Amino acid sequence: MRIVAGRRSEALAQEVADRLGTPLAEVERHKFPDGELYVRIPHRFDGEDVAVVASTRTNDDLVELLLLLDAVREQDAGRVVAAVPYYAYARQDQRFKEGEAFSADVVARMLAIYADGLLIVDPHKSSILASFDGDQGEVSAVPELAEYFQDKGVDLVLAPDAGARGRAQMAAEHIGVDHDHLEKTRIDAETVEMRTKDLDVSGKTVAIVDDIISTGGTMARAVAQLTEQGAKAVYCAATHGLLIGGGVEKLEAAGVAGIVVTDTIPGDHSRVSAAPALVRGLKAMWGVETADAVRP
Ligand code: R5P
Repeated sequence: MRIVAGRRSEALAQEVADRLGTPLAEVERHKFPDGELYVRIPHRFDGEDVAVVASTRTNDDLVELLLLLDAVREQDAGRVVAAVPYYAYARQDQRFKEGEAFSADVVARMLAIYADGLLIVDPHKSSILASFDGDQGEVSAVPELAEYFQDKGVDLVLAPDAGARGRAQMAAEHIGVDHDHLEKTRIDAETVEMRTKDLDVSGKTVAIVDDIISTGGTMARAVAQLTEQGAKAVYCAATHGLLIGGGVEKLEAAGVAGIVVTDTIPGDHSRVSAAPALVRGLKAMWGVETADAVRP
């Protein structure tokens, strides 16, 4: 298998390639004066399978992924998988109101025009994969996030809402501590209400685990309330760290002990690599052959 990197995911794709013992294929790319993107892949694949590792943080990233998939096909790739660390529009995972676009479905159906397989790291909901007509896979970076917390003295892992409980459970089992979930009500895109139930967090070090930190509103409410209830330290962890709209400042003001996200969206708080998860996912999807020099 060969790896091709999207512009947002060059370091991550390189690590995936290193772990698989396969080279990263060269990509020529530029942006035209009007903002349109250009890509060319000079390498011919001669029937070899290709994984395009590309986070779709912006609309340009998404368009570039589609262009890369087309170029890869043109260069005689075997099977082509879109390996998407951060999947665009994942939270519009249904038509919530009449007349709305089902954005996550649109993205999956566009990708299916060019890719034989779709692999997503910690999708907001697994159900979005069903929109992809081809081989589907999802993989979680939560074990790696949990690994980060092994020596941080965490006593309890919490999910910010019932929907994220599975992730909290996975992390808690990895660390060997209890887990639970909070009760969240979203008022609007930037405001949430949070109920911490009657959890006893007094004197405890807590890690809150979610799929994504966007504006930080959800986590900040949780940190503030848990701290008020006597928690000793509260860490915030997520696979995807958008951290937009002053998210970091909001969390710091709430008293967070640390923010830990992966490099699906590279940033200052990307303390954990999503590469091991992507390698697991690629191996599970197509039983990727690996070279001797492969790292575990
Ligand atoms: C929503 O269900 C997601 O899992 C996250 O909890 C949410 O997107 C986080 O958004 P924010 O950081 O803006 O509160």
